[in-house]
Amino acid sequence: MEPALIVALDVPTLAEMEKAVHRLPDSIEWYKVGLELFCADGPAVLEPLKKRNKKIFLDLKLHDIPRTVANAVKTAASHGVDLITVHAIGGRAMLEAAAGAARECIDPPKLVAVTTLTSLSQDDFKDLGIERSVSDQALALGKLAIDSGIDGLVTSAHEAGALRREFPQALLVTPGIRLPGGDVGDQKRIATPAFAIQQGATHLVVGRPILQADDPAAAAAAICSNIKGTL
Ligand code: C5P
Repeated sequence: MEPALIVALDVPTLAEMEKAVHRLPDSIEWYKVGLELFCADGPAVLEPLKKRNKKIFLDLKLHDIPRTVANAVKTAASHGVDLITVHAIGGRAMLEAAAGAARECIDPPKLVAVTTLTSLSQDDFKDLGIERSVSDQALALGKLAIDSGIDGLVTSAHEAGALRREFPQALLVTPGIRLPGGDVGDQKRIATPAFAIQQGATHLVVGRPILQADDPAAAAAAICSNIKGTL
């Protein structure tokens, strides 16, 4: 499978989203809708993307009791969403319920689990009563998610290699992607598309380097050619 570029639509409203998509070439197949945009305008934000035959990564990081998450997965799938995030920390029953709900859909979405938010440090772990190291926790929760029937994991490119060795079939979705010399912004663990792909990433999430570029289409093209050059 050729790695896919997913453009993160981190904008505050549906109107802003339409403007952003309009500035990008039709060759962009995947878009990510996150909490900010979804909370602003709800499932209506998905319709223009489906009308353009786009694939949608709905990044709501679901984490609740099993029944609630299973129903949210079914509802999201009914809107034509292709990829959904859940929190692995929700536990086995929640993960299995989510995976089971996805399998029952007419057009089943894929599910990927967030193991540990990259914003959490070892000190935060102490506050939370977690004794494992950040990387051991990511590996343990990754195993729990994959064993529970989840299709893949969200990971920094720097941990992708270890996860790829452990889970040869898993989808690996990597944010924090920058071209060499690109503006880092608030991302701490950045990697180039080439590095992420070498480590086994299947989906590369890119937001600001494309949306905030003077010429978003050119920025997207540069990342696509970096991806293609690696293959
Ligand atoms: O603008 P940028 O390319 O940094 O955007 C990255 C996207 O990936 C954002 O939508 C952000 O929420 C998401 N993300 C991330 N780091 C994680 C998980 C998700 O940057 N660890």
